Amino acid sequence: MILITGATGLLGSHLLVQLSNKGITIRAMKRANSDFDLAKRVFSMFAQNPDKQFGQIEWVNGDLLDTSSLQDLLEGVDEIYHCAAIISFHPSLKRQMMHTNINGTANLVNMALLKGNVSFCHVSSIAAIGRSDNGAVITENSLWKHSKDLSAYSVSKYGAEREVWRGIAEGLDAVIVNPSVILGPGNWKAGSSELFSLSWKGLQFFTNGVTGYVDVRDVATAMILLMDGKHFGKRFILSAENISYKDLFTWIAEDLGKKPPQIEVKAWMGEIAWRLFVIKGLFENKKPAITRETARTSNAKKHYSSERLQKTVNHKFIPIRQSIREISKVFLMEHSEK
Ligand SMILES: NC(=O)c1ccc[n+]([C@@H]2O[C@H](COP(=O)([O-])OP(=O)(O)OC[C@H]3O[C@@H](n4cnc5c(N)ncnc54)[C@H](OP(=O)(O)O)[C@@H]3O)[C@@H](O)[C@H]2O)c1
Repeated sequence: MILITGATGLLGSHLLVQLSNKGITIRAMKRANSDFDLAKRVFSMFAQNPDKQFGQIEWVNGDLLDTSSLQDLLEGVDEIYHCAAIISFHPSLKRQMMHTNINGTANLVNMALLKGNVSFCHVSSIAAIGRSDNGAVITENSLWKHSKDLSAYSVSKYGAEREVWRGIAEGLDAVIVNPSVILGPGNWKAGSSELFSLSWKGLQFFTNGVTGYVDVRDVATAMILLMDGKHFGKRFILSAENISYKDLFTWIAEDLGKKPPQIEVKAWMGEIAWRLFVIKGLFENKKPAITRETARTSNAKKHYSSERLQKTVNHKFIPIRQSIREISKVFLMEHSEK
């Protein structure tokens, strides 16, 4: 039996559908108040027989922070795909995010070790990979350096990954994947799918930053290939291409029929903007739209290499231009239906 955590999220629901298309029996973890909407939409788009396959999933309530629920969830399980995490750049969620991502992962690793005979695929992030000096390409071996400029999300994903490395040292068969920004038709109001809503509203600004992107279908496929090939004890960057924010937002705007962003925000402008937004947020008692972390991230230029994955499994990534075209089509279809 396969267990997927975070099965109601963007990546988890795509993994669920790909495993389900192979006819595999899956137990999917959800929280008592989780929303199924995204998982149902993903099944309607990508499953061979959506209603039947969705009905065959064994949905079980649990929480990463509740070890007794994890014990029940692991009953009869021999493979775990651990996708659940909190992704946030808002300081108000920092404590909860650190606790969920690090302690929640430690709980799952401990339960898997206790049970024995369980293989484990951990979804980390490029946020948990080291930086490079002088803009050199970042690989799985790039050294992690603590710095005050790191986002709390990065620190939480680094801490979570360390728990998996500890598990590996204690005998767990685990493989770690480090995806770059995952693109897919998800919750348009949160996470990476929100990039499409922002462009839809009309985005005038762009920064000169560069980062890696990967289609959600590629991440799910690579995870299955790595688990099937038992490539344990290693981490793999999953990133199709390195793209500037300018190109990314221009492509999305073109596909949504909007005007591409025209005004470049220099790094120093971002530094002023996040401070103004924090002050505005304090007065309005709201989370700031731009934080120090998002402003700094959007100006960094980082290039990632997926060479290790290419050498290990035979997988060709979907070009990002094509992903954006396909996701934009779904966005337009869902927004015309409202
Ligand atoms: N999106 C990206 O660009 C990106 C890039 C690199 C790596 N990653 C990593 O990929 C993984 C999946 O990301 P995603 O984009 O699919 O995230 P997502 O859509 O936000 O989904 C997060 C999932 O985690 C679950 N979750 C959160 N806290 C939990 C808890 N305490 N116990 C059990 N489940 C909990 C959520 O359940 P509810 O439905 O109940 O909220 C949801 O199913 C994460 O580990 C993330 O760090 C994401």
